[in-house]
Amino acid sequence: MSVNSYIASHKERFLNELLELLRIPSVSADPKFKDEVFQAAEFVKSSLESAGVDRAEICATTGYPIVYGEKIIDPSAPTVLVYGHYDVQPADPYELWDSPPFEPIIKPTEEHPEGAIFARGSADDKGQFYMHVKAFEAMLAAGELACNVKFMIEGEEEVGSENLDLFVKGNVDKLKADVVLISDTSMISMETPSVTVGLRGLAYMQVEVTGPNRDLHSGTYGGAVANPINALAKMIASLHDENNRITIPGFYDRVEEYSADYREQLNKAPFDEEDYKRKLAIKEVWGEKGYTTIERVGIRPTLDVNGVWGGYTGEGAKTVLPSKAFAKISMRLVPNQDHKEIARLFEEHLKAIAPPSVTVKVVPHHGGQAAVVPTDSLGYHAAEAAIQEAFGKQAIPTREGGSIPITSLFQQALGLDPILMGFGLDTDAIHSPNEHYGVKNYFMGIETIALFFKHFSKLHKNS
Ligand code: BES
Ligand code: MN
Ligand code: MN
Repeated sequence: MSVNSYIASHKERFLNELLELLRIPSVSADPKFKDEVFQAAEFVKSSLESAGVDRAEICATTGYPIVYGEKIIDPSAPTVLVYGHYDVQPADPYELWDSPPFEPIIKPTEEHPEGAIFARGSADDKGQFYMHVKAFEAMLAAGELACNVKFMIEGEEEVGSENLDLFVKGNVDKLKADVVLISDTSMISMETPSVTVGLRGLAYMQVEVTGPNRDLHSGTYGGAVANPINALAKMIASLHDENNRITIPGFYDRVEEYSADYREQLNKAPFDEEDYKRKLAIKEVWGEKGYTTIERVGIRPTLDVNGVWGGYTGEGAKTVLPSKAFAKISMRLVPNQDHKEIARLFEEHLKAIAPPSVTVKVVPHHGGQAAVVPTDSLGYHAAEAAIQEAFGKQAIPTREGGSIPITSLFQQALGLDPILMGFGLDTDAIHSPNEHYGVKNYFMGIETIALFFKHFSKLHKNS
């Protein structure tokens, strides 16, 4: 039986297994779900075992475990290291979901007329890494597995992958491979398949502004004592100038500038701004002057407030001049910017612009470097060939705005090119309410991954 007919004859089970995994609320950020995150790791381990790995293990860390599994068919064959994550983002706010986030249902959408799976983690990343488990099962069952496989599926991607960082550095031999294959990104559309060749880095900060030592009556003290929320709002507003450039001194010093040629190339990717605006219900796009939307997301750095709080936010009105104000602020970084340096510049600047009437504390959360993937490697050519065969189209290289901080470590510590062959769509609402993943994307992904293995082994033989 061929790989494709194996997939076709096990469609229902392949889908049901994913739905089962999606029912486990493996939210790594929220300690309330600790048991469920461990349960998801067990699920991944046994799914690797039933798919046919030689051995699978749960590698404990000081946080959530890394599930490792391998199948060595022939020591002289090339090895593909598959990376993915079984943890998911918190599902809050629950009331904005049309159906419960951990009770997957399938229904059609504008982009997925054939049906999409609605559940937290469906696209990011359970539905995507699970394609690799099923592609592996299908190749093995069809007797067509042409590469060795190593699976490394972690449970802390959504909280910064700190333990994976240590795991990779400490297991360079175990993880020895010829390429890393990752499906945790998007493509332009089913009609226009793409391969991601760039991801942004990240520096994530928390800011705490303190005014008076206790909440005050806003009449008794208002106008005479600085309000930390007012101060924070003003500081935040000053972080962008009139051209929407970030005002932190030194922020752009190392930013890689691209040639006119490269920018033109980048802007050739199909992009319909009217459709983009319509789908987001926005009247105008926004961003750094002098750059297109594709460039603003792909090759320019950003600063965004992710959350801001303080004072009274309950029912009705309470007249209070609060003691404290907080904000979570993230900066997306581009090649050559160092997340630790940016975190330092951010802290120095916030302290410099704070009025003397308040004190500012800055605590860095997590960070990571940007990644750029070369397009002249065997792995990239294998991805192109696989997409050509599955979709009948030439893949477009794209640079995405999201971050997978561990990808740059794969390059540094393992010397491997990560191939970012994802099958999600930007409209899949990852990290948002009503996250979903196309059923067709899931099956096309399984097929394309199997073709990647075939082409990678072929190209390897001929190299
Ligand atoms: N899969 C995403 C990254 C991503 C999203 C890449 C969209 C390309 C397109 C990943 O799970 C993620 O959410 N990463 C975080 C960073 C992490 C350190 C929390 C992100 O980008 O915010
Ligand atoms: Mn992800
Ligand atoms: Mn994510």
